[in-house]
Amino acid sequence: MDDKHDGRVTREGIRIHERTDFAGMHTAGRLAATILDEMAAHVFPGQTTAEIDRIITDKVAAAGASSATIGYRGYQHASCISVNHVVCHGIPGDKVLKDGDILNIDVTVILDGWFGDTSRMYVAGNLSRKAERLIQVTYDALMLGIEAVRPGNTFGDIGHAIQSYVESQRMSVVRDFCGHGLGRVFHAPPNVLHYGRPRHGPRLEEGMFFTIEPMVNLGRPETKVLADDWTAVTRDKSLSAQFEHSIGVTDSGFEIFTLSPAGRFHPTWG
Ligand code: MF3
Ligand code: CO
Ligand code: CO
Repeated sequence: MDDKHDGRVTREGIRIHERTDFAGMHTAGRLAATILDEMAAHVFPGQTTAEIDRIITDKVAAAGASSATIGYRGYQHASCISVNHVVCHGIPGDKVLKDGDILNIDVTVILDGWFGDTSRMYVAGNLSRKAERLIQVTYDALMLGIEAVRPGNTFGDIGHAIQSYVESQRMSVVRDFCGHGLGRVFHAPPNVLHYGRPRHGPRLEEGMFFTIEPMVNLGRPETKVLADDWTAVTRDKSLSAQFEHSIGVTDSGFEIFTLSPAGRFHPTWG
């Protein structure tokens, strides 16, 4: 447990933050979201994922922030870039984007000690109909999960909202990765599952900070991690999408820390 800070931790180990802590999370979250806003111009056929990551690294430094992922368990990049059937934790490299590729860019910054963690989908060139549908369903699933956030509801209510919607669209929710508590730390209790049963799991309380970051596959939910020990892909090679927000529980609902200042969280194709 983190003893440097005052305040309560639930019996599930979930930190209850003070009202004054929300401001720091908004500032960190806004920076991460702004960087993602600015990356839209850098996603196009012919671009490499390494170049996208290099630009992100520069933007984090220019903002006087630091990257939460560089040095995290040996990870060496400021972003994860997950293309097509990569579910999450894609490592930026010399891969060249081609027309029709869909990709998730995930950035976590540390600003004034607070962590801002967000990811969204981008398209290189033209979007196929099936990819567009996958991205729309994944976005809607995240927002339905967020709408279940209020004191008195449970983490199972969030997971159930996401899972029941995704499965109603005949897509699948990845079970092998989850959201997480965050705040002055990157990954803290609880595990925020993107599936679940109503009224199950820990009860939501004002002052909890966590991410919701559903990964949705067009095919089956199973994943495997490649030999690089990071890149997670769908076992059946089906397309996968993900959106992530960092949020806080308020007295009556939620605040989203990683809202896009440019209104570009949802891709503006078409
Ligand atoms: N940002 C990711 C998350 O949503 C974690 C990436 S860890 C890394 O939790 F080391 F792969 F970058
Ligand atoms: Co996260
Ligand atoms: Co993330």
